[in-house]
Amino acid sequence: MHLPHITPQRLPSVLRRMPKAELHIHIEGSLEPELIFQLAERNGVKLPYESVEALRAAYAFTDLQSFLDIYYAGASVLLKEEDFFDMAWAYLQKAAAENVVHTEIFFDPQTHTARGVPMGTVIQGLHHACQRAHQEFGISAKLILCFLRHLSEEDAFATLEAALPYRHHFIGVGLDSSELGHPPEKFARVFARSRELGLHVVAHAGEEGPPAYVWSALDVLQVERIDHGVQAIHDPALMQRLAQERVPLTVCPLSNVKLCVFPTLAQHNLKQLLDAGLCVTVNSDDPAYFGGYLNDNFVQLFEALELGPREAYQLAFNSFEASFADAATKRSWEHQLKTFFEDLREHD
Ligand code: HPA
Ligand code: ZN
Repeated sequence: MHLPHITPQRLPSVLRRMPKAELHIHIEGSLEPELIFQLAERNGVKLPYESVEALRAAYAFTDLQSFLDIYYAGASVLLKEEDFFDMAWAYLQKAAAENVVHTEIFFDPQTHTARGVPMGTVIQGLHHACQRAHQEFGISAKLILCFLRHLSEEDAFATLEAALPYRHHFIGVGLDSSELGHPPEKFARVFARSRELGLHVVAHAGEEGPPAYVWSALDVLQVERIDHGVQAIHDPALMQRLAQERVPLTVCPLSNVKLCVFPTLAQHNLKQLLDAGLCVTVNSDDPAYFGGYLNDNFVQLFEALELGPREAYQLAFNSFEASFADAATKRSWEHQLKTFFEDLREHD
């Protein structure tokens, strides 16, 4: 489609207003320090930080593991169904305000069940927030259960089993946590079982880990999307495969800089991935920890890489294409996106 010229000054507003989907957000990573302290007080949980400021000051990460240690500590304040509701509700309010029309939300049940929180408490709290956000804002919000890859496959199986009474409340499974040393094939059987159950399957791969992990996520786990995947750039055959099959990569620019995957946003490889024909999407990952929600990711990335309306349209289009919505719903979002850009042209 023909796209209008948009001045650099006007671009941030266009990025913020365009309809889009978010496909890579860990709900525990949306817990703002203020809410962590509120929930700690409500539940009588003692935190190893004195104040909101002291906690925020600890957000100086050197790699994925240095972040995960703090992220799991923050999640320790979540005990009751209303805590899970409040966390997801806060995120969904922000997402709706950012013109996110659809979101597929990761959650980490093992982080909570290991502390004695029942699976039903986690899933029902999150589900009720998704339901209410759909009613109040018209946003479509779905859940994806993630297995923690630093734990055993046996633990992942027990987690899947415990979640089955709530099967209708989540659409897929994913794989997150410490990537190096925990290759996708460690979870071959539990992913095969998940596919048999009709669940969608995705996995984090190629965030810090090598292209070999992306190959094994595709070939062994048979995932439908790769989360991150930015290390694929080092393997031309893999790049060709991802482009040919249009396997989506859910890329998280601010996360990648905060966790030192790239030294600066200007050095991020998203443009190269896009130019190679990959179905790249932009996402926030853990917005409370990485300095911005989805629109901040778009605005800062576009400024750093000097991207324009063509890339904006393509990335928003990709977010709908890569989603797990049905074909008719995708078409209606794509139509909404097209209309949004056409209306811009009229006012030029
Ligand atoms: N990578 C792996 N595990 C995670 C992440 C991530 O970016 N965020 C939350 N858990
Ligand atoms: Zn992630």
